[in-house]
Amino acid sequence: MEEFYKAVRVSDHVYWVGAIDWTIRDFHGYLTRRGSTYNAYLITADKITLIDAVKKPFREEMLSRVASVVDPGKIKYVISNHSEMDHSGCLPEVIELINPEKVVASPMGSKTLKELLPVKREITVVKDGDRLNLGNMNLSFMETRMLHWPDSMFTYLAEEHVLFSQDAFGMHLATSERFDDEIEEAILRYEAATYYANIILPYSSLVLKLLDRVASSGMEFKVIAPDHGPVWRMNMKGIIELYGQWAIQKPALKTVIVYATMWHSTELMARAIAEGLAQGGIAVKLMSMDEFHRSDVVYELLEAGALVVGSSTLNNNMLPHIADVLTYIRGLKPANLIGQAFGSYGWSGEAVGQILKELSEMKVELVGDTLSVRHRPDGEVLKKCFSLGTLIAEKLREKVTTV
Ligand code: FEO
Repeated sequence: MEEFYKAVRVSDHVYWVGAIDWTIRDFHGYLTRRGSTYNAYLITADKITLIDAVKKPFREEMLSRVASVVDPGKIKYVISNHSEMDHSGCLPEVIELINPEKVVASPMGSKTLKELLPVKREITVVKDGDRLNLGNMNLSFMETRMLHWPDSMFTYLAEEHVLFSQDAFGMHLATSERFDDEIEEAILRYEAATYYANIILPYSSLVLKLLDRVASSGMEFKVIAPDHGPVWRMNMKGIIELYGQWAIQKPALKTVIVYATMWHSTELMARAIAEGLAQGGIAVKLMSMDEFHRSDVVYELLEAGALVVGSSTLNNNMLPHIADVLTYIRGLKPANLIGQAFGSYGWSGEAVGQILKELSEMKVELVGDTLSVRHRPDGEVLKKCFSLGTLIAEKLREKVTTV
């Protein structure tokens, strides 16, 4: 145990006992520029309870923080809200070390803990609405299946109005500060939006249902304690409202143009389309995939209404950066987008057709004509690109008023 690691008090009987990962930069393709935290929480009830845990290499940091409050061997209950390994990787060793009376998980969580890690002991399964008495306090459970794994659930400590929300309402942000009111608001919004766009977005319809369930549950929050990033103790209402707003995926007057170019022909087309959009009164984010990461693109798309994608053709294919970002975007299932494909080629020109196929699989509503040019766009082609931009601007304005 390292004595310098300390727990941080969250409420009367709740402590943060997680770990700070200052260096992680990749979460399955999601660029985490500011690192992350793996938040675990200790409830010092009669039955001392650990909620979630940390990645395997951070086991000692978590146990040291627990030890700054109580002997880890006194933990009686371990609750797993989410069995993905950033929150459970150390659990098999920790469970063996502390030998708690109960390990608690959702029905799917129980299976995952046994199959994925594995946890080799009986797991107490709790379902939606079940309660667990901790002696002087009580926990209740709300299953949140597919947000974002089948096992996911919330745990609520009624006596102190603390919601343990696992990945929901979290963000990848490594800081020495533990609470939302200690961190610049713009950073919180940016990182929460990036997290939503890169992780939660495909499950937006479930988010809306969950927010309704939470609103009608009568739960009052003084604290929302997610598994990543700061603990919300000031602006809980704000992050819940943002989730509601992002989940609706209402189109906005903004277009994301994503492109990759070999010898600048596709880039010239991209710039002409951008100018048409801008002169049509639409905000534009022009993103060369040589410069931007796929995570940045989906962040920008979260509050946009159109996606326009361009690529040169290389060896009968779209450029690899475009294939990469399209695969990533498709998996995240953005909704309510309009858009189009464009590009340049030397002798075959398959890229634009491939992009169109991806856009149609994403159910992007195509506007105007696809633009594909051999070698270099001349003045006439660039005028067409500009016109495509103004047409998308017009259609986007119509869409924003109707959706
Ligand atoms: Fe933070 Fe889904 O694990």
